[in-house]
Amino acid sequence: MTVHLADPAATDLFAQQIFRLLPGDTGGWTLLLEGELGAGKSTFARALIIAAGHQGPVPSPTYTLVEPYHLPDRIIYHIDLYRISGNDELRYLGWTELDDGLRLVEWPDRASGLAEQADLRISLAYDGEGRSVDIVGLSERGVQLAADLKQEPPDQ
Ligand SMILES: Nc1ncnc2c1ncn2[C@@H]1O[C@H](COP(=O)(O)OP(=O)(O)OP(=O)(O)O)[C@@H](O)[C@H]1O
Ligand SMILES: [Mg+2]
Repeated sequence: MTVHLADPAATDLFAQQIFRLLPGDTGGWTLLLEGELGAGKSTFARALIIAAGHQGPVPSPTYTLVEPYHLPDRIIYHIDLYRISGNDELRYLGWTELDDGLRLVEWPDRASGLAEQADLRISLAYDGEGRSVDIVGLSERGVQLAADLKQEPPDQ
């Protein structure tokens, strides 16, 4: 399913909508955020982290690779794999131990085999002045979420 996002506020609304469709317990969930430089991956991640109740800045994890958010009812790991150079580094950052939280992953293609472990692929692309976003379920529960999204009237 593809949705047009006319401006950054529409990206925020879309992230809020996805957050509302997630279950209360998102431990072990993984959302892949794909798209070229500047496509809006961090905008989406920031809006979702704020929708989950975080107050304060959401710094880019480009250098730290992982920024954890310990919220009252869940942990979110904002992960940026742009600077990693393969799956050894994925192990080094402790990928498998991050399964107690919701993993939001920018540049998932920098590692191999993440799609098999993920729930949703959210692909952002330039589209005129705005962006478009394509959402695909990768796991059974991800497919269900994408189907639920289709049933909802668009937010924007
Ligand atoms: N729907 C939209 N329409 C127009 N601009 C948008 C939209 N969504 C986000 N942007 C803008 O695109 C710019 C880049 O966004 P962002 O940093 O989220 O991209 P990114 O994919 O994380 O980039 P990077 O690959 O560098 O990490 C920001 O200025 C943001 O406000
Ligand atoms: Mg980014």
